[in-house]
Amino acid sequence: ATGDADAGEQVFAKCKACHSIVDADGKDVVKGGRTGPNLYGVYQRVAGTQEEFADKYGDSIKAAGEAGLEWNEEDFVVYVQDPRAFLQEYLDDRKARSKMSFKLRDEEDAKNVWAYLVSVGPD
Ligand code: HEM
Repeated sequence: ATGDADAGEQVFAKCKACHSIVDADGKDVVKGGRTGPNLYGVYQRVAGTQEEFADKYGDSIKAAGEAGLEWNEEDFVVYVQDPRAFLQEYLDDRKARSKMSFKLRDEEDAKNVWAYLVSVGPD
């Protein structure tokens, strides 16, 4: 990861309204909201496949996963800046939609929060 994990921890304050980080043993790394999927180890996942969130994902993010999207720094950084625009581009479908309406406008913040997620997740 190219970002600063400590700075990213501060950025994650904006995410935790909707996202928690719960490790494989069920321990809360960050106690957050449940509107969005658990982000523990998100960088090892195919998009739209967090098990407990399976019934809640929108169709477009599931389609992106089925089309081969596995979270990596480059795609994550574009996604969090504008999830709907990312999915429209990725799927080449201007009707694609995202259930994540939040936009993290700053690219550096996005890189930093990625570094933070890597720092608190599995190897
Ligand atoms: C999905 C990151 C803030 C609600 C996702 C995903 C990522 C992500 C990577 C895809 C996960 C997957 O494929 O399993 C972030 C980050 C945030 C943030 C880094 C802060 C910078 C928020 C906020 C909300 C939210 C504030 C609620 C207002 C959601 C929802 C989804 C989602 C509902 C599912 C999207 C769908 O089904 O289309 N988020 N998120 N997120 N997030 Fe966020």
